[in-house]
Amino acid sequence: MFQVPRGTRDFTPEEMEKRRYIQRTMTSVFLSFGYGEIQTPTFENIELFTAKSGESILNEIYNFTDKGGRELALRPELTAPVIRCYVERLQMEAKPLKLFYFGNCYRYDRPQKGRYREFQQAGCELIGVDTPEAMAELLALAFTILKNIGLKNVRINIGNLSIVSALFKKLHLSKDDQKILLPLIDKALFDDLSVSLRDCNVPEDDAETFISLLQTSDVNKIRSFIADDADSIQELSCMETILGLLQNAFHITAYDIKLSIVRGLDYYKGLVFEIDAPVLGAEKQLCGGGSYELVSLFGGTEVPTSGFAIGFDRTILALEAEDFIFPASKLDVFIIPVNQDMIPISVDIAQQLRTRGLSVDFDLLRRGMGKSLKYADAKHVEKVIIVGPKELTDNTVTLRDMKTGAQELVAISEISAKLKRT
Ligand code: HAM
Repeated sequence: MFQVPRGTRDFTPEEMEKRRYIQRTMTSVFLSFGYGEIQTPTFENIELFTAKSGESILNEIYNFTDKGGRELALRPELTAPVIRCYVERLQMEAKPLKLFYFGNCYRYDRPQKGRYREFQQAGCELIGVDTPEAMAELLALAFTILKNIGLKNVRINIGNLSIVSALFKKLHLSKDDQKILLPLIDKALFDDLSVSLRDCNVPEDDAETFISLLQTSDVNKIRSFIADDADSIQELSCMETILGLLQNAFHITAYDIKLSIVRGLDYYKGLVFEIDAPVLGAEKQLCGGGSYELVSLFGGTEVPTSGFAIGFDRTILALEAEDFIFPASKLDVFIIPVNQDMIPISVDIAQQLRTRGLSVDFDLLRRGMGKSLKYADAKHVEKVIIVGPKELTDNTVTLRDMKTGAQELVAISEISAKLKRT
């Protein structure tokens, strides 16, 4: 039989409820931080993604030629599309511009738990500001989203690409060397990094210091290594101001400085960060982001830009691993007509209750009472309305509490008030 394509998934109503819960919570946090929602197409002209990363990115994305001969790609992420939209339509908007989004992304990855070829991201882009308070707020927003969703244990790792560049400069490493070393740093493959540094003719002591600086949270150690580089010292002080705000104004302390956070995507510069859920072990990175440069590459007037994206799948896996109980939306009431003559009045009652905001279903299969009650039980419905001819003559129905089995006669005109009270 047919199966879903490799790396993609179907989501059942039960799974969709979890995803919608996450989406609702995220939306309310984004809105509470003053962000507005944006939507961009699922596919884009391929140059949007090759412009920064070059042709090598083609190995990692889904690209195709359409019937008009256009080279297109399914978006692997939403930062480039949002910045394209900004340059095309939003440059004149008042700054800062705060945009958030939800969208499916497509990457030609090797599928495994927490890594799929089609996956959903929630993210945001902050355009036109890079003050320390803006960057602290961005970090706080990502953290607040994950905490408000219900995650107990998440940790922010904060890096800085300008400082890592300064370290590279100190070790006299060329751009080509950096291209080899950065993926090893990104994947925290420090043994391989040590070998590659030797291949790049870095003296063993310097290599050791470099690797330890990538892993230290001690700002003073970093500062003393780059003491003669004024720009980097300034960058480090700026980072300290951001972290001071994060800690003292946003009251978030679950963070570490980790210069080994260098991010895989090519557009980042300066501050970068990732948020991990340690409970996940492998593929534990829920969120990634930082400041980046794309606007001028896309033909716009350069402004500071930063943002982050959170993966839905790993967030759900982390919640499940922490035994989080997802709020389940339940059917308020199930209506059982005792015979076929009672169907029109049952429909009428269902419609009345639906317009009053209750979720209502009624037996469409014309089953007997026993089977209908069993179905209602399986659906975890709390109340059942039984519509019978005898009661109808008094304009009443039987209301059954599925938990206790208790039944009472209720006037049809009072059902919704009664159900809303219970
Ligand atoms: P990213 O780190 O590539 O960043 O992706 C962000 C999140 O998407 C990851 O932390 C992870 O949770 C999820 N994710 C990535 N790849 C997969 C996959 N194959 N399967 C399941 N989940 C995945 C970005 O995409 C940047 N655009 C973030 C950003 C926004 N930077 C600035 N603004």
